[in-house]
Amino acid sequence: MNIESSHEPSTFLNQLIQMLYLKAHQRNAGIETAERSDLIVIDNAEDLELVSRNPDTFTKNYSSISVLGTSRFNTDGDIWRKRKEITQPAYNEAAKSSRTKFVYDVYEDVLLKQKPDSIAALQTALFEASVRIFCAAFGSQGSPAEIVAQIDDLRHGLRWLQFLSWHGERKRELAEATSHVTEVLDNLTKIFSLDDRNNEIWKHFSQPESEIPQYSPIEELVMNIFAGIETTVATLSWAADRLGTSRQVQQRLFEEVQTATGRYDYCECFINETMRYFPPIPYVTREVQQRTRLAARVAEPANLVLVSIIGLHRNAAYWSQPDVFHSARPEFMDNTYNRNAFVPFLTGPRVCGGMRLARVELLQGLKVLVRHFQIERTGDEVHFDYTLAMRPRDKGAIRIVSRQDL
Ligand code: HEM
Repeated sequence: MNIESSHEPSTFLNQLIQMLYLKAHQRNAGIETAERSDLIVIDNAEDLELVSRNPDTFTKNYSSISVLGTSRFNTDGDIWRKRKEITQPAYNEAAKSSRTKFVYDVYEDVLLKQKPDSIAALQTALFEASVRIFCAAFGSQGSPAEIVAQIDDLRHGLRWLQFLSWHGERKRELAEATSHVTEVLDNLTKIFSLDDRNNEIWKHFSQPESEIPQYSPIEELVMNIFAGIETTVATLSWAADRLGTSRQVQQRLFEEVQTATGRYDYCECFINETMRYFPPIPYVTREVQQRTRLAARVAEPANLVLVSIIGLHRNAAYWSQPDVFHSARPEFMDNTYNRNAFVPFLTGPRVCGGMRLARVELLQGLKVLVRHFQIERTGDEVHFDYTLAMRPRDKGAIRIVSRQDL
């Protein structure tokens, strides 16, 4: 097996996501689907509330990425609380309104320089912007090109590990994928520890070494940066994909961006609808520690819970016309949506640590996109790629044109 070229994991993981969309569709049509008895798929707001509010009963299950080591993502209890303190103050600071202009300027600088003309080119530009914003939260300029190249490599390895976590023992592939990821981590350690542009961020992540048992700066840093950039790039790529479906929507957003002075209600609604329709993290998993009664069944210890964010976002009990992309969706415009049925960032104590910073990035990134570009899309066939985050795959349907060139 060559983990660089094999399509096996991509196919499987993409089918898993298709299955979640299909399941949501069948539930709305009243069709019962059979499930593995040890896997509980959750797509209703009551169960989501129970699972997300009780992190000690429904613990993190990240066996697939354990090769990345230990970080705030895959720990629980006091160790998690300590690890959270390493990054949370920086994320909160970076999301303050005084930093909004900086975020806007980064997107504008990168997108105007690179002038992307396709979804693939847009993603390259968005990755650079996102790495710069992430590193700046820790006082560094960052070395985006080098970091993004390694993260690309890391994604291949993680895709395999995620695939293997569903397919049990395949020792040779597991060993290969593990050594691939370890090599990337070594490369990233060199980049962060040796390149002067990363001095401050490396210092920040190295500090807790003496305070937290088994702490590794690169493990904490890589999981955080991966989570921070994959998701925002995915969301803005989906936003571009949806913009391409309607000139009128682009015009209405453009007008808001040109005239608004503080509130961007339509832009925010468009971003929410994008994340409802294509949640960048389509599901999360948890392991049951204690017998618990859910809406339709009892969860037993060692059962695996799969919270289908897709399922919640497409559930007809909470959304009118859930399968329609509605840029001015009334549930968002009127602020009447069910908080437990719209959870792109999850909810409860393990809610996304970068949610506020992500919201700043999404709004500023969208503003730059609609202000400087027009997007055209042929057809409405959707293709995606999924490795921890789901983003559109470039099949040549999208054309991005700089407004300067119109
Ligand atoms: C559109 C953008 C984003 C989305 C949709 C998103 C979504 C999520 C979701 C669903 C989780 C929960 C995962 C789980 O519990 O299994 C999560 C966790 C997390 N995210 Fe995000 N995220 C985004 C952006 C960011 C950014 C920009 C950062 C940091 C710069 C970030 C940092 C984190 C961290 C640190 C956690 C772990 C929280 C904890 O358990 O302590 N995320 N994110």
